[in-house]
Amino acid sequence: MDNFLDLARNRRSRRDFSSRPVEFEKVIEVVRAATYAPNVGDMQPWHFIVVSDSAIKDAVCDHCPHQSWMQNAPVLIVACGSIGKVQDFYDQLADRWLTQTVAAAVQNALLAAEEIGLGACWVSSFDEINLRDLLKIPDGHRPEVVIALGYSSEMPRDKVLLPLDQVIYLNSFGGKVTEMAAVLRDWGEHFRGKKDSFVASQQAQRVDEGEKKSFSDHAQSFFKKAKKPFDKKE
Ligand SMILES: Cc1cc2nc3c(=O)[nH]c(=O)nc-3n(C[C@H](O)[C@H](O)[C@H](O)COP(=O)(O)O)c2cc1C
Repeated sequence: MDNFLDLARNRRSRRDFSSRPVEFEKVIEVVRAATYAPNVGDMQPWHFIVVSDSAIKDAVCDHCPHQSWMQNAPVLIVACGSIGKVQDFYDQLADRWLTQTVAAAVQNALLAAEEIGLGACWVSSFDEINLRDLLKIPDGHRPEVVIALGYSSEMPRDKVLLPLDQVIYLNSFGGKVTEMAAVLRDWGEHFRGKKDSFVASQQAQRVDEGEKKSFSDHAQSFFKKAKKPFDKKE
């Protein structure tokens, strides 16, 4: 896909894999993309166990409750986080930051898979102790996510997203807007104030001129259910 936003929008979890084997280069591409992710302290505290051996794959699936569809995935990638390494530096924050780090890597992997024509699914339903044992994951490391990977003929299903006005708040939790025109004006003024920023002034112009109909349509529907007016600057 040429456009990242299209890629992000069209990505879906794929669970219906064909028997077509996956090229090793593509698996490496997916893992490489995972390693581009933002990560705690740039420690890159991760390892990715690529499982292609069918006996080991079956055993991994056995440790993933209620995920029988995984049996058809030609490749599984077990994303592990180096908890020991992160704990040494970040102590009590390590747990959360490691989880976020590996999640960012996994999302990169899923998008890369989609980009190169593969299907993938994030699986967190696994028995950690058994998986650790099976794959010989040492102390100081822990499995975070299993990625099922393969070619998929599954038709991407339509996705019903929550409306943006239910998921975006302005400035504080629950902050909504009633006066769209005021918001657009203030936003434009804010950008114009930053004369050194070319992108910002472009953005302000767009808002002023209303060139991007889709932007303003979108914004209107975003704010139309507003409950509280946005503070206006005089
Ligand atoms: C933290 C997390 C855990 C998940 N665990 C599983 C899982 O165990 N099995 C599964 O089939 N899908 C799992 N998924 C995939 C979600 O079901 C899927 O992302 C969600 O239904 C949205 O669908 P989409 O990925 O097609 O947009 C998981 C996703 C996340 C982010």
